[in-house]
Amino acid sequence: MSRVICPLLSTRVTTAEKAVEHIRPGDNVGMSGFTGAGYPKALPTALHDRMVAAHARGEDFRIGLWTGASTAPDADGVLAEAKGVSSRLPYNSDPTMRSLINSGEVDYVDAHLSHSAQHMWFGFYGNLDVAVVEVTAVLPNGLLVPSSSVGNNKTWLDQADRVILEVNHWQPREFEGFHDVYYGTQLPPHRRPIQLTDPMQRIGDPYLRVDPAKVVAVVETDRPDRNSPFTPPDETSRAIAGHVVDFLRHEVRAGRMPPSLLPLQSGVGNVANAVLAGLDGSEFTDLVAFTEVLQDGLLDLLDSGTVRAASATSFGLSDVGVERFLANISSYKGRILLRSEEISNHPELVRRLGVIAMNGMIEADIYGNVNSTHIAGSRIMNGIGGSGDFTRNAFLNFFLTPSTAKGGKVSAFVPMASHVDHTEHDVQIIVSEHGLADLRGLSPRQRAPRIIDHCADPSFRPALHDYFARAQAARPDAVHTPHLLGEALSWHERFLETGSMHAG
Ligand code: COA
Repeated sequence: MSRVICPLLSTRVTTAEKAVEHIRPGDNVGMSGFTGAGYPKALPTALHDRMVAAHARGEDFRIGLWTGASTAPDADGVLAEAKGVSSRLPYNSDPTMRSLINSGEVDYVDAHLSHSAQHMWFGFYGNLDVAVVEVTAVLPNGLLVPSSSVGNNKTWLDQADRVILEVNHWQPREFEGFHDVYYGTQLPPHRRPIQLTDPMQRIGDPYLRVDPAKVVAVVETDRPDRNSPFTPPDETSRAIAGHVVDFLRHEVRAGRMPPSLLPLQSGVGNVANAVLAGLDGSEFTDLVAFTEVLQDGLLDLLDSGTVRAASATSFGLSDVGVERFLANISSYKGRILLRSEEISNHPELVRRLGVIAMNGMIEADIYGNVNSTHIAGSRIMNGIGGSGDFTRNAFLNFFLTPSTAKGGKVSAFVPMASHVDHTEHDVQIIVSEHGLADLRGLSPRQRAPRIIDHCADPSFRPALHDYFARAQAARPDAVHTPHLLGEALSWHERFLETGSMHAG
């Protein structure tokens, strides 16, 4: 049975191959999708085919591709494979797209996720020609039941000249009521406070709106989200999780946080998932999440009652997680709310609610500057995502990483970060499997020994201490943040030349 119940929009139902004719070379296209959830499943492949055919005729067919965040191989992946993307924002984790970005074939705008919608309204990105948005159903009055992510969909639907809807029957019809889409945003100088004072407060509508006159095509699909499995926590991530949980206990004992903590934000990936697993079975209960992505770890906490409710913008569940969610979907209604990413990541709300932010990183320097995005200064990994939105505005922020990468050859703790996403002014707590460095209230010179002794791998500690000592001795009038400028990035140069940061 069709899920396009709106009489007007049901006349626009067509195939992906016909719908894609509304996308032209040079268009900016805003697609739905946040992690592997809620991205369009049919249009990107149809677009890939048109691009490949155009390229075979010697014609250029590339688009500017905007999304909520990362998507999946059948969205980012196929468009990258067709060499059909000239520019990309605001976040990507697809390996094929990543190679094109790093080889200079795609211009990548690595924006803070909370900025991406408003920068569009401010006109910073140019015109949005087409929106391609997956939804769960189109109601008789034309309202749209969102799917497994909200991301930037509200903005793309509002701002695009033309709209293509994908109505995905795979998404549970019971999704109706899981979303809270805020329509109260004004432009400066007329902005008003966002009246959200509790993570689970509803401030918007359960539906997305679209001007039916702009809808040029509706495509019905029945395809699953890309749901990557999580690797079970290994010894390293369990150790990291243990340090975080101990530290939270310490903060509660010190009277700086209530026993039910403060709203939790947890980044993407296995380490973040392991930290959530670490909270399960701890004494903490009645927790709440104000986060970006709801991963399996959070579902476990909702099931065990450790977390009572969660606000996010997307589901990032594994196949097993999806099965569990679907089997008990009614029990989650009212306990899970999906919002637009401009709200899930909003600095005003993160600061007001006092969020505890926990995110991964690539490296930190001995003074606490954190690199979340670049390998050896120049090659992008994924992007800053929401880490900046949460970190700067959090009550407490954590950066989590194994102490080494590449089989122990690369240190996550270096004399100078080769790229900085989160400055020493923002970063509070750094955690590796070896321990935790609490940097609050410390000067750069006080931070260095704490990071080296608590977090760095023992095999790199002597070289880090040696650098720190020689940097202090070299210029006694410049020891606020001691550096040997000619040597500061030599660890990265050595890694690029030899594959290892170890000397000799
Ligand atoms: N030097 C070189 N390579 C490094 C490295 C370093 N210091 N640290 C990590 N890497 C490599 C790893 O070897 C791995 O490479 P591979 O894919 O070839 O195996 C890759 O980077 C990912 O590292 P991994 O240890 O698997 O980490 P992760 O999956 O936990 O991801 C980030 C870590 C930083 C990439 C990830 O957290 C991220 O993209 N963060 C930015 C966005 C963000 O924080 N979003 C959440 C906000 S809500």
